[in-house]
Amino acid sequence: MTNNILMSAYLISTILFILSIRSLAHPETARKGNVLGIIGMLIAVLATLFSPYVSDYLSVLFVILLGGAIGSFFALRVKMTALPQMIAAFNGLGGLSSVCISLAEIVAGSDMLLENALGLIIGAIAFSGSFVAFAKLQGILPPKSIVFPLQNFFNFILTIFAICLCAYFVIGKDINIFYALALLSLILGLLLVLPIGGADMPVIISVLNAYSGWAAVGIGFSVNNILLIIVGSIVGASGAILSYIMTKAMNRSLLNVMFGGLGKNNHASNVNDSLQKTPKSIMPQDAAYLMENAHKIIIVPGYGMAVAQAQHILKTMVDDLHKKFDVEVKFAIHPVAGRMPGHMNVLLAEANVPYEDVFEMNDINREFSTADVAFVIGANDVTNPIAKTDASSPIYGMPILEVEKAKTVFFVKRSLASGYSGVENPLFFADNTFMIYGDAKKVTEDIVSVLERD
Ligand code: TAP
Repeated sequence: MTNNILMSAYLISTILFILSIRSLAHPETARKGNVLGIIGMLIAVLATLFSPYVSDYLSVLFVILLGGAIGSFFALRVKMTALPQMIAAFNGLGGLSSVCISLAEIVAGSDMLLENALGLIIGAIAFSGSFVAFAKLQGILPPKSIVFPLQNFFNFILTIFAICLCAYFVIGKDINIFYALALLSLILGLLLVLPIGGADMPVIISVLNAYSGWAAVGIGFSVNNILLIIVGSIVGASGAILSYIMTKAMNRSLLNVMFGGLGKNNHASNVNDSLQKTPKSIMPQDAAYLMENAHKIIIVPGYGMAVAQAQHILKTMVDDLHKKFDVEVKFAIHPVAGRMPGHMNVLLAEANVPYEDVFEMNDINREFSTADVAFVIGANDVTNPIAKTDASSPIYGMPILEVEKAKTVFFVKRSLASGYSGVENPLFFADNTFMIYGDAKKVTEDIVSVLERD
């Protein structure tokens, strides 16, 4: 294959990747986006295989089969609720491959010292940082922040040290310095992510995703592969943009997420007073009578709906309310509801909930005051008003869905347990709140059986 054909194939792949990301931005076109991405990657791999740069086909085939088998094994088994940790693990592997390539290049005598060193540093931070994020999300490490005194100062000193080592390596080309740099970067990745806890993990995964992209850019320059440079830039930029969107949705800055504020465990919460009270509860059957007499209901789905896989029966409930009782029903989606960006949108799309019934937080918040019922199903943190009032709380500053403004609020959950952030929710004890205890799917089934009675 000539270089011209190779470059043309890379160009087609690049266009397909960009179209893929564009399509992935909406649930309606997401499947098409996946297919475009797969075709783009297939073209890229085949073009590289038939390029003059590849000669040892046996080794390449072996790693393709090994990587493909491991990837397929996990992708087929992963539960929807465990996708964030899978993304963290795959990010980490992306970082690790940059580390391996840069080490191989330097050992083979490459002259691209700075490019390899940058690929190594960023890749190693992405690898060890993603490893910690994975362990926290998987419950191997406690999800809360792990902190020690002067942590940020210590990390700052390590970063300066890493920059100095990098410069020293580029000037002196001492391979031992390169190994030291690898070790230091791995430690830095661990230390940067350990203090980040609770609700900030999605942002950090997105930041690490961007790191793995930038590491690929460094490696792309060192092995002189234009596609790696372009695709690495796309991953780096989209990861950075997603991090920005998420921090904006939480009303925070990226620096605040990474170096301060949220994730600290020592918050005092003013919820304790309200905990002395006993919340009111209601049976699903009684909630059904109330809802069929309502004019307007806003449903707030959260992580518990995903765990219970209640989206299909929820759609039946909405159809019944709408068709049999002429109730106006809308869905309110918080940007970080669930455990990954777009988690709720994907589940609702899977249950064929029409897109026009699903509203983003900023578009629907003002409507809660006009709703008879806010039906909060498996959500918690995204409704917690502590986020507005308690500066010491880990979720302080996160905008919330203002469900308390509805005439009546139903919380469908199994207990009074807190959500992901570990912060108690005082809304459970509010005068207009009724708890409906139970598994989200079972409760909704009970409600539907009343709505569908003869
Ligand atoms: P959470 O605040 O985590 O609350 C979920 C609630 O669901 C829990 O309080 C739990 O209470 C309930 N639940 C669990 N299983 C249930 C079941 N089978 N049936 C009924 N209820 C069940 O969820 P949220 O409101 O969606 O907020 C998301 C949180 O996760 C935020 O803090 C966010 O920052 C964080 N996070 C988000 C992402 C992204 S990008 N979306 C990624 C990682 C973390 P019971 O145990 O009492 O049932």
